[in-house]
Amino acid sequence: MDYQSPRGTQDILPEEQPYWRFIQDKAADIAARYGYARIDTPTFEDARLFTRTVGEETDIVSKEMYTFADRGGSDLTLRPEGTAPVARAYIEHGMGSRPKPVKLYYLANIFRYDRPQAGRYREHHQFGFELIGDADAAADAEVIDMAWSFYRELGLTTLPVQLNSIGCPDCRKAYTTALKDYYAAGVAGQCQDCRTRYDNNPLRLLDCKKPDCSAAAAGAPHSADYLCPDCLTHFERLKALLGAVNIPFAVNHRLVRGLDYYRRTVFEIQPLEEGAQSTIGGGGRYDGLIGQLGGEATPAVGFATGIERIILNLKRQEIAVPPLSAPRFFLAWLGEAAAVPAFTLGAELRRAGVPLAQSLGSRSLKAQLRQASALGVSYTLILGESELAEGTIILRDMGNSEQRPLPLDGLAATLSAL
Ligand code: HAM
Repeated sequence: MDYQSPRGTQDILPEEQPYWRFIQDKAADIAARYGYARIDTPTFEDARLFTRTVGEETDIVSKEMYTFADRGGSDLTLRPEGTAPVARAYIEHGMGSRPKPVKLYYLANIFRYDRPQAGRYREHHQFGFELIGDADAAADAEVIDMAWSFYRELGLTTLPVQLNSIGCPDCRKAYTTALKDYYAAGVAGQCQDCRTRYDNNPLRLLDCKKPDCSAAAAGAPHSADYLCPDCLTHFERLKALLGAVNIPFAVNHRLVRGLDYYRRTVFEIQPLEEGAQSTIGGGGRYDGLIGQLGGEATPAVGFATGIERIILNLKRQEIAVPPLSAPRFFLAWLGEAAAVPAFTLGAELRRAGVPLAQSLGSRSLKAQLRQASALGVSYTLILGESELAEGTIILRDMGNSEQRPLPLDGLAATLSAL
């Protein structure tokens, strides 16, 4: 075949759909219970929305965005994340006048020109939620609690929440200076990315995965030691609240996250697995973002989790998901005289709410029963010419192969009661 799905994208086949439905249903359910309303934003946005907020120097903006000029000459980007679009929509629709906090969630496809591998795709899907308009550490704690509870409700076992505070722009200055002082002597021997980060985005020096760079990061100063009094109080309060609701967490001084809009709280959650590297979800506080986009300065905090990565881990942890609803009945027929009556009966039964698949073309009973078995129905109805003449139909129990006649009269009700 000449065509394949583009590298890093996937078809979601019918057999995978129960996982998707399970996760999407749980997402919508927990979002409703925590008071979040759904928002859907466009698949593409003005490219500057992301360059300005996610940050020119981040991997996402510098290496991973799908940006193109449309026929009108506008620079557009397939969304590489969901937070900036929600902030844009919040401002555009004047949601600042709604009672705060405004709580919004989304299920959206996300595009990043990443190197494809297990759990890393060029198109992936996220469940994300954003709590806008509350600066209190309790908002951070509630978002983390919801993320944590979401994985619990899916049945997934995760590692303790990785937590850090990277401070506000004020205290971050002192921290960045300390970080650069620490790296000054050795950075020339580190990777090209880190040499660039040293000048443009020093915080990101901490999460370089290359062995030499990682070793250097181990001795680096901790942002938590440079917090201003307000940021420190916020961080201490957040830890106390998480403790109060028994959410296991570990402060990870090297956690900085790959998007520039974060302030104070950053956090990530990893699944329980050997050599766990793949983060399933991450988030943090982004108090400057809405102001930066031209809205009134508004504190906010949020989280997003990758659906493909959740599915990978549901499978690894052998968690069964409920099957999708399927027909309970199959309607088979025999003899040309039964063809139209069988088709009509099938349509009538479905209109009456009976979940039923039917045999369409003329085939042997054996072939029709094979189809019924493949569909996994509980019962097959068999309409032959003689039954038709008598006003009956045969009901075959697919479990024990027992057959008995049923009157056609009131059939929908009879079947529904089975
Ligand atoms: P993020 O950490 O870049 O955060 O992405 C969130 C999650 O999306 C990741 O933890 C991962 O599960 C999944 N993910 C990211 N890239 C890929 C990929 N290439 N393939 C498969 N899955 C992927 C954000 O995007 C922030 N907007 C989260 C946030 C919301 N912060 C505040 N509010």
